[in-house]
Amino acid sequence: MTDTRANKRFRSQEWFDNPNNPNMTALYIERYQNQGYTRQELQGDRPMIGIAQTGSDLAPCNKIHVFLMDRIKAGIRDGGGVPIEFPVHPIQETGKRPTAALDRNLAYLGLVEVLHGYPIDGVVLTTGCDKTTPAMLMGAATMDIPAITLNGGPMLDGWWKGKRAGSGTIVWESRRLLAEGKIDYEEFIERACASAPSLGHCNTMGTASTMNAMAEALGMSLPGCSAIPAPFRERMAMAYETGKRIVQMVLDDLKPSDILTRAAFENAIVVNTAIGGSTNAPPHLQAIARHAGVALNVKDWETIGFDLPLLVNMQPAGEYLGESFFRAGGVAAVMGELQQAGHLRPDAMTVTGKTVGENVAQIRSTDHDVIRPFTDPLRPHAGFLVLSGNLFDSALMKTSVISEDFRKRFLSDPGHEGVHEARAIVFEGPEDYHDRINDPALKIDEHCILFIRNVGCVGYPGSAEVVNMQPPDAMLKAGINHMPTVGDGRQSGTSESPSILNASPESVVGGGLAFLKTGDMIRLDLNARTMNALVDDAEWQARRDAWTAPTLVNQTPWEEIYRKNVGQLADGGCLELATAYQRV
Ligand code: FES
Ligand code: MG
Repeated sequence: MTDTRANKRFRSQEWFDNPNNPNMTALYIERYQNQGYTRQELQGDRPMIGIAQTGSDLAPCNKIHVFLMDRIKAGIRDGGGVPIEFPVHPIQETGKRPTAALDRNLAYLGLVEVLHGYPIDGVVLTTGCDKTTPAMLMGAATMDIPAITLNGGPMLDGWWKGKRAGSGTIVWESRRLLAEGKIDYEEFIERACASAPSLGHCNTMGTASTMNAMAEALGMSLPGCSAIPAPFRERMAMAYETGKRIVQMVLDDLKPSDILTRAAFENAIVVNTAIGGSTNAPPHLQAIARHAGVALNVKDWETIGFDLPLLVNMQPAGEYLGESFFRAGGVAAVMGELQQAGHLRPDAMTVTGKTVGENVAQIRSTDHDVIRPFTDPLRPHAGFLVLSGNLFDSALMKTSVISEDFRKRFLSDPGHEGVHEARAIVFEGPEDYHDRINDPALKIDEHCILFIRNVGCVGYPGSAEVVNMQPPDAMLKAGINHMPTVGDGRQSGTSESPSILNASPESVVGGGLAFLKTGDMIRLDLNARTMNALVDDAEWQARRDAWTAPTLVNQTPWEEIYRKNVGQLADGGCLELATAYQRV
């Protein structure tokens, strides 16, 4: 494409070069000049390129971006732009109470205000930890100025006693070993720390790697960006190329609305199945789609994604970690395999100025143990099932992590494959679960399903990652590691638990889960995609009539604002009023 800078008037010139308003122009210029920008840089023929910095001491998953900044800025300079870095509200998955999910919409709001109110012509969005990626993409969708994502990359592979130790997955495994008395507290902590050997985000295919894969699948990052481990030289080179590329995107006026189309979201769903991606992807993609004005529905995840196979052999669904995935070709290779099999929409535009099809046409897996060819997958039909019934309008089940053992024990009643009837055990939240899971009075056995409620967007504000409840210690000691669990919250993308989660609407707003009682019989029919409490209609209605919404206590002003404005997980957990501000 041609460089049109000579005849282009940039958005930033409304601030820095506006002869009709010399007072304001002078004020804008003098206060940026005082940090060393020259008048030529501010008023000349070069675009101002914002760099949204999500890394900090508080956000270690994204801290690598502090060290990548030189390379991003060098790329922007060499591309002919002027870099201008600004901070983003931190969203550290493992550090924020009560949930990091509460802050996704806050960081989104902050980004929109910065992009709207400051002299920025295009933006590099640094991403990494789980919610940073959707927050940045949601903001870019709302503002619709040229934008490109650069993730920090996963940590190096963790190792513990000669075995790969993956982020999150080692914690779930170690928790079981601790409950079984096989390891002590000290070893538990040491095992977890072994999984985090360097800067970077989670090295498993958890929510961070998933969401960065989604950014690449959507066409919002350069091809090959998402899988490069944080400390690798290729990550620094990618930072440079990303900085360089955004300048040309501004000159070409290539905007999120050109890229975030329905075809792009369909590609993201397809890729999510092939990588064994996180159950957090549907609400985040839904939120990005809604801010972009693209029609997407939770049922699309099953319709488009369920029948596709799992290609990527990475924890929690498989065995490897981020370094192997990168060496095998990463997301671009997965997309190349999917395209060859005819499962991508190749015409979707990307930040390269080329289509997805053009970007990945020649890229294939270089290690078939890590990224399998489409014709020889790890498992077929590996997408999400979307269930409904009297307990919820929709809930997701990630099938790529259901083990054969679990399938046999819980989903294969003789003659009724996929059908399971069980007694409900209901917990009112994570605190109640921890207090009572080992209470013998509950008589929990393998004929039970564990439910957790009050943990959705409004209930636990943000929605908690707690649905992957482990069985009581006595069952763990007997070798039963997983029971069916259901809830209106989420679970970590690093969990291998085959939970039924993201149930919408949530219980505190009057969703069906609110009326369930411990002891009720439940029927799960995976073939019919239903889950129902076997309670007759009159009794169910009586419980509904008797129900009153719980009183929710807010600890901060933002919690109150969030709760008053947030929607349900099936709708992306957006600030509903914000979805009206599109393509401003
Ligand atoms: Fe930040 Fe996993 S906790 S990426
Ligand atoms: Mg998480």
